Amino acid sequence: MTALVLPDPIAIDGPAASGKSTLGEALSARFGYRFLDTGLMYRAVTLAAIRAGVAPVEDACATLLKHLELTLRGEPIAHVYLGPEDVTPLLRDDAVEKNVSKYAALPVVRTAMVRQQRAFALQGRAVLAGRDIGTVVLPEAPLKFYLEASEAARARRRSAQTGEWGREQHHDEAHRDIAVRDEVDSAREASPMRPAGDAIIINTTDMTLDEVVHFVMEKVLCFAG
Ligand code: DC
Repeated sequence: MTALVLPDPIAIDGPAASGKSTLGEALSARFGYRFLDTGLMYRAVTLAAIRAGVAPVEDACATLLKHLELTLRGEPIAHVYLGPEDVTPLLRDDAVEKNVSKYAALPVVRTAMVRQQRAFALQGRAVLAGRDIGTVVLPEAPLKFYLEASEAARARRRSAQTGEWGREQHHDEAHRDIAVRDEVDSAREASPMRPAGDAIIINTTDMTLDEVVHFVMEKVLCFAG
């Protein structure tokens, strides 16, 4: 029996609440990939900035980043640490949620995060999810997916999420948050959110997340021959 040669790394991009993490975790469970949700890194920088009272401007964040000990630990699903503290459970808090787009738009923040994301991928068997993985972080990735879904479908999924999100969010509020974040993430100058030219685009509006996972697994197996 010949071993499967799995595509490595795999890039998953798409807007907020499009199902990227569910998909990444499913690929990890099924094929043994290490998974990094890069949004968590931007959220951890935001948390550190809020704690230190640092505004979302280049100079101040450059100084913050110099002293920031942000590390990725744990397999197969990476957690984000600030110094010795696993901050992963804190990264869905309201204050982080409302401010993360402003910090993620800063080139100085993006440069530092992208460097660490590439180092993670270089360790092998990696799936990374984000907004610019296929275009900027891993343009050479052999397999890329871009998940699309209507705002309404994503707001529905987000307001139904509890678990890691820690609280149920009212549907209207979820809809508003998602719309605002997508607007900032798409309009920014530094690495705006968009699909790579060679990404497989999946419109998941009328699909269940199980169907999306199944579709992507077929593609991975197809690639592996
Ligand atoms: O995926 P998420 O909702 O946790 O992302 C949080 C924020 O970080 C969101 O505003 C988009 C931004 N982000 C980014 O700019 N680039 C990435 N690769 C991942 C997330």
